[in-house]
Amino acid sequence: MSSKYNKVVVLTGAGISAESGLSTFRDNNGLWDNHRVEDVATPEAFDRDPELVQRFYNMRRAALKTVEPNLAHQVLVQAEKEFDAFILVTQNVDDLHARAGSQNLLPMHGELLKQRCVQCHQITAIMGDITLDAVCVQCERVGTLRPHIVWFGEMPLYMDAIMAALMACDLFVSVGTSGTVYPAAGFVEIANQVGAHTVELNLEPGDQNSQFKQSIHGPASEVLPAFFNQLNHGTAQ
Ligand code: OAD
Repeated sequence: MSSKYNKVVVLTGAGISAESGLSTFRDNNGLWDNHRVEDVATPEAFDRDPELVQRFYNMRRAALKTVEPNLAHQVLVQAEKEFDAFILVTQNVDDLHARAGSQNLLPMHGELLKQRCVQCHQITAIMGDITLDAVCVQCERVGTLRPHIVWFGEMPLYMDAIMAALMACDLFVSVGTSGTVYPAAGFVEIANQVGAHTVELNLEPGDQNSQFKQSIHGPASEVLPAFFNQLNHGTAQ
């Protein structure tokens, strides 16, 4: 590997899965599959209307069966092998990075294909629907299972590992995220503070665009392979 960078953190958002056919969050008038975020992605929403919230995530989980990883996901699998350290942090709850084969993956907003018991906190795999009368395999309580998704107002996952990787990185690349949701939106600032090169790869300038030292705009399946290819051939900044 001829790149001058050794320790890489890549952050991805909904834009990397757009070309696989999954809709992003904010490209549709701020609606998410026609639901307001507050109606489906908060603990309060789940308390108020668990059936609606479970149905919403059941539909999103079912939709995963109809999509495949795209070239952008695949390029990150290859990139992981080419640096001394490589951490892929994703805000996405789909399984496309995992299915493509990424290993050092931190899904900070949770995973659609996992469920969690709100009583005993046991996390288990789930391929089908979570029903309101589902039984937890660990504590055997009924109706205590929820999607293993970080909702608004809840603490993202893997923050210690993510912070450690950011503090040590010399290259930070953000792909397909609008940069609107914290703490992920603040990662570029941390990477800048430790002197890393910071790059935004997105269809359009995101909210944090001015923070990045380099930005390249276009579809992820084009700009991501081109960027890592340039790095390999030593022609990038
Ligand atoms: P957004 O929907 O906010 O942003 C997606 C970004 O991807 C936009 O800036 C688009 O311009 C860009 N985009 C669309 N198609 C693209 C393509 N083919 N190639 C490259 N970029 C493309 O999604 P996120 O930034 O991921 O949180 O949203 C962050 C978080 O907000 C989500 O994880 C979710 C949501 O509420 C939780 O659920 C906790």
